Amino acid sequence: MRKPLIAGNWKMFKTVDEAINLTKSIKAGVYKVSDCDVVICPPFTALAAAAEVLKGGNIGLGAQNMFPETEGAYTGEISPIMIKELSCRYVILGHSERRQYFSETSTFINQKVKLALKYNLIPILCIGETLEERESNRHFEVVKEQFDESLADISAEEVVRGVIAYEPVWAIGTGKTASPEQAEQMHSYVRRLLNEKFGQEAAERVNILYGGSVKADNALSLMRKANVDGALVGGASLKAEAFAQIVQAAVDACSAEANK
Ligand code: PGA
Repeated sequence: MRKPLIAGNWKMFKTVDEAINLTKSIKAGVYKVSDCDVVICPPFTALAAAAEVLKGGNIGLGAQNMFPETEGAYTGEISPIMIKELSCRYVILGHSERRQYFSETSTFINQKVKLALKYNLIPILCIGETLEERESNRHFEVVKEQFDESLADISAEEVVRGVIAYEPVWAIGTGKTASPEQAEQMHSYVRRLLNEKFGQEAAERVNILYGGSVKADNALSLMRKANVDGALVGGASLKAEAFAQIVQAAVDACSAEANK
């Protein structure tokens, strides 16, 4: 059985001081949790301070992006080595906001995934369709294309070290969540794509997170689905209590599964 993962994507929120306070509250809220991996992804500027607060605890640290080179003349960018130095084990790659506002393509994201793996970071690769693509019934096709291009030239041994997040763009920050059935339908499709490309053993090992308006009150029904292995949480990860409740929902869904 896959251990669930709940990752908080703080986006461009929280100054260093605010991040220290939020990290402390989250740490206090989830300190007993061992049946679920918990990760927070503050902005770059707050990573060092958050790492200090997280020391010795059970919460992992992640960055929200990185550039696919180790160093060089890339003004404004951050390398995998730099985020590793700040204790990051995870990195979110290909978030739809990066694709939308910074024109990131799946081919470019593929370079990032490869370099993240090379430096032993755990990529949280985001894929998902827009509202228009869903309404024109192209959501499976779009997700397949993003999957194929973002994971080009990656081996089965490598893919199991990463995480995939299905985030329908129409559900991000809109308050509109995919129904548990819609999420499960796409997650089992992604699992099938994993199976076809990397084989069954690898496919069974990869965590597929759902993201898009996950809140304390909808988390349990989403995570009860067989192929929903956790969540990438935006807005609700900025509130320690809501975030802890989402983590608890993942633990509850997992123990219900184990008792079946
Ligand atoms: P949301 O964001 O939970 O605020 O919808 C999710 C994400 O963008 O990862």
